[in-house]
Amino acid sequence: MAELAIEAQGLVKRYGDLTAVAGIDLHVPAGAIYALLGPNGAGKTTIMSMLTTLTPPTAGTARVAGYDLLREADQVRARIGVTFQEIVLDQDLTGRQILDIHGRLYRQPTDLRRRRIGELVDLVQLNEAIDRRTRTYSGGMKRRLELARGLMTDPTILFLDEPTQGLDPQNRVGIWDYIRMLNNRGGLTVLLTTHYMDEAEALAKRVGIVDHGSLVAEGAPETLVAQLGADVIRVRGQGDPAHFAAQIGRLPFVTQVDTDADNAMVQIYVDSGSRRLAEVVSAASGNGYRVDDITVARPSLGDVFLHHTGRALRD
Ligand SMILES: Nc1ncnc2c1ncn2[C@@H]1O[C@H](COP(=O)(O)OP(=O)(O)OP(=O)(O)O)[C@@H](O)[C@H]1O
Ligand SMILES: [Mg+2]
Repeated sequence: MAELAIEAQGLVKRYGDLTAVAGIDLHVPAGAIYALLGPNGAGKTTIMSMLTTLTPPTAGTARVAGYDLLREADQVRARIGVTFQEIVLDQDLTGRQILDIHGRLYRQPTDLRRRRIGELVDLVQLNEAIDRRTRTYSGGMKRRLELARGLMTDPTILFLDEPTQGLDPQNRVGIWDYIRMLNNRGGLTVLLTTHYMDEAEALAKRVGIVDHGSLVAEGAPETLVAQLGADVIRVRGQGDPAHFAAQIGRLPFVTQVDTDADNAMVQIYVDSGSRRLAEVVSAASGNGYRVDDITVARPSLGDVFLHHTGRALRD
């Protein structure tokens, strides 16, 4: 088995009566990009806060970068970089000042700080802006500066909480490129959270799908998707979707059936969408289900979420 950068067992976080994280086990291979994917309030930030030593777990343990989260918190902190969900940059400081202060916090000597800042500014392409106050930065530039700050201490694990939240599509793709590049150079492990399934699909070698504080599925995105079936036929219609779903699930070429109650949609996973479309339509009419709309697609991580939770993953 590959070396693990993060290994968590039974992590729990309670706030009074509310269980934010309900006991999760996490295995993040060294050198991987791992995405925690889930809707608002699922517990992603809380998991991140515990693994970065910012929030003490109510129960459970973890090893992060080879050190015990609770007993060796200083060692953990020395080996990780973190960016937060909300942008936290002093608007009156320049980018260079922000990076320099961060290096001082970690007691880096002047020449090391200067060298790191030079490298990182090149890396995230902020050369022109680095001596301007951050209040003049665009959202994408702020995120890039935060990435650089997370990397000042040359971490072995980088934690990114919603790295592209609030960015337009072009800037999101730009940040994805930086994350991939960082991961490729020197095998930096990246644990990121996201509520965008396209982000998890684009970046992650492994995903953990989080819902109500629990991991409901974990694995390589393509494996999780392939477990559902080769194609998904989505049917919207008039009649009893639950009855139709139960009947169609008996057919031999159907691997899974899900219903999305909100949408009155029946999702039928099959071995081949184009070959089975006609059979699905005739099965619908045979069961008194009148088809209004039918589409064939490749399943996505959104379908994996629906399959495990019974709900659609929406932004
Ligand atoms: N300090 C706190 N005190 C009380 N409840 C909290 C606290 N922090 C988080 N929670 C609750 O814990 C649950 C999980 O929150 P968390 O921020 O971890 O979710 P998330 O998956 O990061 O959501 P989002 O996608 O909106 O960022 C939520 O119900 C939230 O209200
Ligand atoms: Mg969050």
